[in-house]
Amino acid sequence: KKKLILDLDTGVDDALAISYALGSPEVELIGITGTYGNVLLEQGVRNALAITDLLGHPEVKVYKGLSHSSTTDSFEVLDISAFIHGKNGIGDVDIPDSSREAEEQSAVDFIIDAVKTYGKDLIYVPTGPMTNIAAALAKAPEIKDEIGGIVLMGGALTVPGNVNAWTEANISQDPDAANILFRSGAPATMIGLDVTLQTLLTYKETQQWRDLGTKAGAFLADMTDFYIKAYETTAPHLGGCGLHDPLAAGVAVDPSLVNTLAINMQVDVEGATRGRTIGNPEKLNDPNKTMKVAAGVDVPRFLNEFMTRITNLARQ
Ligand code: BDR
Ligand code: CA
Repeated sequence: KKKLILDLDTGVDDALAISYALGSPEVELIGITGTYGNVLLEQGVRNALAITDLLGHPEVKVYKGLSHSSTTDSFEVLDISAFIHGKNGIGDVDIPDSSREAEEQSAVDFIIDAVKTYGKDLIYVPTGPMTNIAAALAKAPEIKDEIGGIVLMGGALTVPGNVNAWTEANISQDPDAANILFRSGAPATMIGLDVTLQTLLTYKETQQWRDLGTKAGAFLADMTDFYIKAYETTAPHLGGCGLHDPLAAGVAVDPSLVNTLAINMQVDVEGATRGRTIGNPEKLNDPNKTMKVAAGVDVPRFLNEFMTRITNLARQ
């Protein structure tokens, strides 16, 4: 069985990625590592603990990661993040806090230990800023050759960013960290906005969760409706909300959901386009491609997998 680590800034779509992973019998979610972004680190960790409890999986351990990028002294949640994910990150839905705490071990050490233990069976899925994995690669560079794979949500190959014309949110929070990961030579698949903005959810699907009559179903429906409503204001032309982070989880479970191009990427860290994901010019002719970039997604198949897995999980 593949082992999965989700590295989350637990907002709404991160919570849906947890649900997707827990609804996938092919993989074992061995831990959640917390980062900052949609919410502060502490709030994201709290959300991850509460959500795994609510979904009937209190065995999933949660580890605290770094609370801001290495180029800043602190982190503040942007107004737009609170508008899209709610002040508490989960659509301002109230769920009971867990009686559990985050583990003593740091996220960075947990990631390194997990690579040493599971090697090629381990897939690491960052769906927030890449600060934790950049720190892990700095501390134990050899993990780039030992890990099974990394499936990250961030950036874009073609479309404009969602922070500004060239930057996507997860990359923009810590472009330097993403650049370290992209240039590390680790086997990574980038799931960018190109593909995630094709996978959309509407009130019709969330109603199916509400109709289950379970606590988990009600939570998922209420939380996701908040997020859909925010998309109606910020991106009305889409007709639904973007399933960014669940698509990364989906590809970690089943890589055939997307078509990929093999390109060694980097992130602009200087100048006006800081935060742009782009091909590494020095590596264009390098026959050794360590990165893949999603260029297409089987939308109906993914949406079907997404609904089936999460609905089965929320039914219990
Ligand atoms: C990404 O940014 C966050 O707001 C979402 O959770 C997702 O990971 C989309 O750009
Ligand atoms: Ca996220």
